[in-house]
Amino acid sequence: MPPEPDALFDPARYAKVRRPLLEAEGLPAACYTDAEFFRRELDTVFRGGWLLAGRAERIPARGDYFTVDFAAASLVVIRDAEGRVRAYANACRHRGARLVTGEGNCRAFVCAYHSWTYALDGSLRGCPGMEETRDFSRADYGLDEIRCETWDGFIFYNLDGRAPPLAAWLGELPARLAPYRFADMAATRIRVHDLDCNWKTWVENYMEGYHIPTVHRATISAHKAVNTPEDPAGSGQYRAIFERHEGTLALLPGDSGFPPLEGLDDESTRGSRFMLVYPATMLALTIDAMWTFHVLPLGPERTRVIHTSLFPSSRLSRPDFEALAANYYKRQDRVVQEDNDITILQQQGLRSPLTRPGRFAAKEKIVHALDNWVLDRVLGTGTP
Ligand code: FES
Ligand SMILES: [Fe+2]
Repeated sequence: MPPEPDALFDPARYAKVRRPLLEAEGLPAACYTDAEFFRRELDTVFRGGWLLAGRAERIPARGDYFTVDFAAASLVVIRDAEGRVRAYANACRHRGARLVTGEGNCRAFVCAYHSWTYALDGSLRGCPGMEETRDFSRADYGLDEIRCETWDGFIFYNLDGRAPPLAAWLGELPARLAPYRFADMAATRIRVHDLDCNWKTWVENYMEGYHIPTVHRATISAHKAVNTPEDPAGSGQYRAIFERHEGTLALLPGDSGFPPLEGLDDESTRGSRFMLVYPATMLALTIDAMWTFHVLPLGPERTRVIHTSLFPSSRLSRPDFEALAANYYKRQDRVVQEDNDITILQQQGLRSPLTRPGRFAAKEKIVHALDNWVLDRVLGTGTP
């Protein structure tokens, strides 16, 4: 027997992950714990793809901004003086101090260190004390702009600037999901969870229904749902599950909620959709509500999960909005807690040197697809 190849990025090491789903093994545990593998993921998967920043209604007025911080970048997303959404690296061009934290509104970015000042278009407007510095031109020291595009209110960014346009990345997804009318939705609540797990464990769990009867036996497993992973119809960088069921999947049994979304096509009224836009944006689309998750890797075994709840804006003016929305939040929070707990438990097992890869069930089709999508990029063997 030849020795197992042990180089972390040797494609031979992943030969069994590359097999068809029902013949394949999972990723080696090192892919969920190793600092080198993680660094390679940041450079390829996270710098090279389109990542969700948040919703455009979070920054309705000129000068409104929010920040995004994770292991691959710190950026600020802002509505500029012309009303356009833009993103910049959140670091001063003088000696690198962070410019802003959290969220807020500003007329200009003023660095807290030596007062360099940047307009909302990123240009350097003031830099007191730089008069004697030779060959220094303010025009060369504007903020670094990060490529940013919007899909029906969802702001996405691409860090390396080399991804295909967002519309090409999404493929037929916007047309397919048009009946949900995302542009008319409003984000009503954001929850942030920092968890001791690798980013893939959380995404993989979200994109398989195999665990529902076990992990969610006290919450959503009572819905008589048939869960089918789907393949994208075209070239879009996403995967989808359609879950066929009666009524809504967005409430716990006995709780009341809103009527179904207006304008849904026939199929969409018969079930729920769970989507992954590669690499780290997840959408939950039910007949009466929507919520999203996006994960931000903080370290090989540390992940930030941002959970956003959305409803059609027209619901917000109902006098009973808060009372009914609370039922949806309760369901989302309980199920997310169950998913968080199991993901952390999985990570604890993955950390052990004794842990070896297992096999997949048919319902884990998208786990296998994600793992191979990541390998394509990390090993440099697929299309960017
Ligand atoms: S680091 Fe920002 S002004 Fe000096
Ligand atoms: Fe779950």
